[in-house]
Amino acid sequence: MSDKQAGNTEQLDFWRGEFGSTYTERNAADAWQLQARVRLWSRIMRAMDGRSPQSILEVGANLGNNLRALSTMCSATFHALEPNPTARERLVDDQVVAPERVLDGFASEIPLDDGAVELAFTSGVLIHIHPDDLAASCGEIYRVSSRYIVCIEYFSDKPEVIPYRGHTDKLFKRDFGGFWMDQHPDLQLLDYGFAWKRMTGLDNLTWWVFEKR
Ligand SMILES: C[S@@+](CC[C@H](N)C(=O)[O-])C[C@H]1O[C@@H](n2cnc3c(N)ncnc32)[C@H](O)[C@@H]1O
Repeated sequence: MSDKQAGNTEQLDFWRGEFGSTYTERNAADAWQLQARVRLWSRIMRAMDGRSPQSILEVGANLGNNLRALSTMCSATFHALEPNPTARERLVDDQVVAPERVLDGFASEIPLDDGAVELAFTSGVLIHIHPDDLAASCGEIYRVSSRYIVCIEYFSDKPEVIPYRGHTDKLFKRDFGGFWMDQHPDLQLLDYGFAWKRMTGLDNLTWWVFEKR
């Protein structure tokens, strides 16, 4: 239990280590990715109705495809939390995020003050967190956001564990929007949607935009 409290889960080790580094080297930050992400974030930002955030944290940013897209759309200050060292190096080398705002860490223990950013979000990250750590991880995301929370994840009506690239216990799908609303009932749902692979090229992602009230 004390290991878990320190965030040292087998899922986190998996991403910190060789699997996460190979994933990062394979991951592309190309023009096509950028365009697809800009389209997705245009829809998400529309829900904020002209009140776009001035500071943004991506939890589990990897090499920053979301932040690269956001940098073409707004002038917010970016923060990235990322447990994998290869990914953190890419964020700094490619000047996606200023070095002092690229944070080594994990969702269930975010090294930022309460309300430090106006928007905190995950994209394809809650699916890799063990269900036992999910409430603590969402609790931290909630704590550091002063206004918006965005969640972009794979959806399943019921919680399920899916084999992930030949690995077990590394991908957990559920209704993450419902989970957020049940855990933090004060969250106001601004919008939600689906990035259908056939039309967007993105991986059938379901997204939710919440505002703290
Ligand atoms: C599938 S990638 C998604 C990357 C990026 N968010 C995107 O949408 O392109 C998952 C990322 O989350 C990171 N990650 C895994 N577990 C995490 C945790 N508990 N807290 C924060 N980041 C985590 C991994 O290192 C990896 O970079």
